[in-house]
Amino acid sequence: MLTPKTILITGSNRGIGLEIARQCGRKIFHVIISGRDKAGLEKAQKELAKENINADILMLDVSNLDSINKAAKEFRKTNKHLDVLVNNAGIGQRGDTSLLHNSEGILTKTLLTNSYGPLRVTKAFMPYITSPGRVIMISSGGGSMTDETGGWWPAYCVSKTLLNSITRQLAYELEQKNISVNAVCPGWVRTDMGGAGATRSVPKGAETPVWLADEAPQNLTGKFFRDKKEIPW
Ligand SMILES: NC(=O)c1ccc[n+]([C@@H]2O[C@H](COP(=O)([O-])OP(=O)(O)OC[C@H]3O[C@@H](n4cnc5c(N)ncnc54)[C@H](OP(=O)(O)O)[C@@H]3O)[C@@H](O)[C@H]2O)c1
Repeated sequence: MLTPKTILITGSNRGIGLEIARQCGRKIFHVIISGRDKAGLEKAQKELAKENINADILMLDVSNLDSINKAAKEFRKTNKHLDVLVNNAGIGQRGDTSLLHNSEGILTKTLLTNSYGPLRVTKAFMPYITSPGRVIMISSGGGSMTDETGGWWPAYCVSKTLLNSITRQLAYELEQKNISVNAVCPGWVRTDMGGAGATRSVPKGAETPVWLADEAPQNLTGKFFRDKKEIPW
């Protein structure tokens, strides 16, 4: 019998994160959903249970270093190893309209969650990540340095550009350990963040991260993907 792989997904009480949990739970994965909203996580856990997916809950606020370190210790109490880490949690702020005119607080909070968060979580969980192992960063086309600058959520776009750069650096550092590190643009997805007018369904948004978690060749690393295809940084 195959041993289930363990996957931890940050920010998975709703949206793309919860859908990654659902799609991976349907495969042979031991799923750990995580976030800062206990009630939301319990609701998600119940939703998954209806599909016979038994997800564990880990409290983890990616913008808070103490919470990250506490979560890593908590994880170790009941788990021996982590096969796949998905750094999905992210924020976009309504007031994120201008780097010049907004208070610096908007940029700081966005970077703390969307860029430092994935780096710090990866660092904290590194002792438990298996070899071979996989780290997946949920980025955005907004972080691309080749796409046109769109004039939307500038702090968010900067945070995803930094996340892309972190992805490449970690991929380089972890290649010897056979841990792949890749970034994904899920496209414009109908979640709370993407809004009702977005062009993609949530299952479609989760498709490429789920592929990277499982079926993608292990030796693909340091790359940026959309729709299971490499895209330029
Ligand atoms: N939707 C899109 O069109 C789109 C496009 C490109 C990229 N993305 C990226 O995809 C990822 C998921 O986004 P989504 O569309 O699913 O957004 P969403 O529906 O707003 O979900 C965001 C998730 O991140 C969690 N989160 C936020 N801050 C957190 C923190 N400090 N610690 C832990 N969890 C936190 C939220 O939890 P709470 O309930 O506690 O807030 C929620 O579970 C994000 O990284 C986003 O940037 C989305």
